[in-house]
Amino acid sequence: MCDAFVSPPSLLILRKLQISSSPYVSTSSFKPSVRSKYRSVHASLSQSHSNRWSLQGMTALVTGGTRGIGHAIVEELAEHGATVHTCARNESELNSCLKGWVDKGFEITGSVCDVSLQHDREKLMKDVSCLFDGKLYILVNNVGTNIRKPMVELTSKEFTTIMSTNFESVFHICQLAYPLLKASKTGSVVFTSSVSAFVSLKSMTLQGATKGAINQLTRNLACEWAKDGIRSNAVAPWYIKTSMVEQVLSKKEYVEEVLDCTPLGRLGDPNEVSSLVAFLCMPASSYITGQIICVDGGMSVNGFYPKHV
Ligand SMILES: NC(=O)c1ccc[n+]([C@@H]2O[C@H](COP(=O)([O-])OP(=O)(O)OC[C@H]3O[C@@H](n4cnc5c(N)ncnc54)[C@H](OP(=O)(O)O)[C@@H]3O)[C@@H](O)[C@H]2O)c1
Repeated sequence: MCDAFVSPPSLLILRKLQISSSPYVSTSSFKPSVRSKYRSVHASLSQSHSNRWSLQGMTALVTGGTRGIGHAIVEELAEHGATVHTCARNESELNSCLKGWVDKGFEITGSVCDVSLQHDREKLMKDVSCLFDGKLYILVNNVGTNIRKPMVELTSKEFTTIMSTNFESVFHICQLAYPLLKASKTGSVVFTSSVSAFVSLKSMTLQGATKGAINQLTRNLACEWAKDGIRSNAVAPWYIKTSMVEQVLSKKEYVEEVLDCTPLGRLGDPNEVSSLVAFLCMPASSYITGQIICVDGGMSVNGFYPKHV
C-alpha cells in the first residue's frame, strides 16, 4: 500500500471519458471498397491525431498544485487524460483541493511536502514511484517563491529560503525523478521559470538568478537526457493573477505601471500558462526540447513602447 496522502475515494474514481469528434466527411458517393478503405485510413488518422493532442495514459507529478499556476496545470493535465499527483505544504488546503477534484471526476492524488527539504522530496518521490509503478511521464517543477527587497537587504536566511525553494528543490527533484522518467521512455520535464530570468525586474534580483539557473538546467537536461527520450522545456510567465502576487497587484498605480509595459495591456490568467505546459507534455510537441517560452503578453520584447494602455 502506498504511503501517499490521498483523499479516500480519489484513486478509485475513473476520469470522465473524453470523446473526441472528427470533422464529418461524406463518403456516400465513393465505391463501397474505396469507402471502406477511406474509413479505415480516416479512423487511423483521427486516432493518431487525437493521440498527438492527448495525455491519455500518462502519469504526472506537478509540484505546488493547490493554488495559482500549479492548480491550473494539475487540472489541465487531468482534463487531457493524465493521472496526476501533486504536493503542497498546507494539508487542509491540499485536502480541500483533492475533494474538489474528486467531485469533478479527476484522478488526482497528493502528498504534503515542503520541496525545500530533502527528506520531504525523497518521501514525495517514493509516493510517486509507488502510485505510478515506477513510471513517470511528466514532471512539472512549478513551486517557486520570492521575497521582494533590494538585494543588499536580503538576509542570509532569506537567501537560503529563495535558493532552496526555487532551485535546490528543482535540481534534486529532477535527480530523484530521473529513473522514473527514464522508465516511461517518453518523459517530459517542464519548469516554471519567469521573465525575471530575461529582463531586470525591481526587487527580484535573487529570484531572477534562480530562474536563470532553471533556464540553463532546462537546456542542459534537454541534451543530457535526450538519449533516454526525455524532453526538457520551461515556461516563463510575467504577471499572472495568483495568490503570490495578490498583494503587489492590490496597488492600483503599480498595476498601471505593469500594464504600461505589457503590449497586450492586461495581466495573465493561470490557464494561459497551463495550456502551454500541457502542449509541451503532449506528443504534438515531440521535437521541442531545451526551450524556454515566455507567457508574458509581449512584455519581454517590449523595447521602447512605454505606454500600452
Ligand atoms: N504569478 C506570477 O505572476 C508568476 C510570474 C512568474 C513566475 N511565476 C512562477 O510560477 C510558479 C507558481 O507561482 P504562483 O504564482 O502560482 O504561486 P502561488 O499562487 O503562491 O502558489 C504556489 C503553490 O506552491 C505551493 N508551495 C509553495 N511553496 C512550497 C514549498 N516549499 N513546497 C511545496 N509546495 C509549495 C503552494 O502551496 P503551500 O503554500 O501550501 O505550500 C501553492 O500550491 C512559481 O515558480 C513562480 O515563481 C509566477
